[in-house]
Amino acid sequence: RRRVGVLISGRGSNLRALLEAEQDAYAIALVVSNRPDAPGLAIARAAGVPVHAPAPDGRGRAAWEAEADAALRAAGVELVALAGYMRILSPAFVAGWEGRMVNIHPSLLPLYKGLDTHARAIAAGDAEGGCSVHLVTAALDDGPVLAQARVPIHAGDTPETLAARVLVEEHRLYPRALAELARGL
Ligand code: GAR
Repeated sequence: RRRVGVLISGRGSNLRALLEAEQDAYAIALVVSNRPDAPGLAIARAAGVPVHAPAPDGRGRAAWEAEADAALRAAGVELVALAGYMRILSPAFVAGWEGRMVNIHPSLLPLYKGLDTHARAIAAGDAEGGCSVHLVTAALDDGPVLAQARVPIHAGDTPETLAARVLVEEHRLYPRALAELARGL
C-alpha cells in the first residue's frame, strides 16, 4: 500500500472519506495542517493517524513548507493528497512532489479555478456543477485532471445547497481517484 500524506486546513470531511474508504491501495501515514486548530485534525487523531500541525511561529511560508516536507518524507510518504488545503504551495514544494501530489477542487475544471466556485457556477447559469481531482502543478488548480464527478444545478440552488450536493460526490470520487493513482505508481 502506498503511503499517503494528507494536507488540510479546516473541516476535514474529505480526509474522513479517504480514511473511511477501503484502503487497499493506500494508507494514510500523516496528516499535515497549516492551522493547528483545524477541526479535521480531530478526525486524524481519532483514527490514530499522526499529525503535523505546528503553531505558526512567524518564520514564513518557506520555513513552514520545508518542515512539512521533512515531516512527510520522515513518515515515508510517497503520495500527497490536498484535502481542503487552502494555502497556495510554493513552486519549490510542488516540484518536490511532481506527479505525486493531487488536489480535489469543487468545480468542473478548467472552469472556476480559485475560490467561490459554486457561486460562480450558479451566476453563470450553468446546468451542472461538480468536482475534479487533478495533479498539482505550480499554477493554481491547473494540473492534469484525473477524475471528475458532475451534479445538476437546480433552480433555486444557493452556493450552500450546491456545495452540499457536490461534497457528496467529492467523498465518493477522491478515494477512488487516489487509489487509482496509488496503484499506478
Ligand atoms: C472541499 O469542498 C474541497 O473541494 C474544497 O474545500 C472543501 C474542503 O472541505 N477545496 C478547495 O476549495 C481547494 N481550493 P473538507 O475540509 O471538509 O474536506
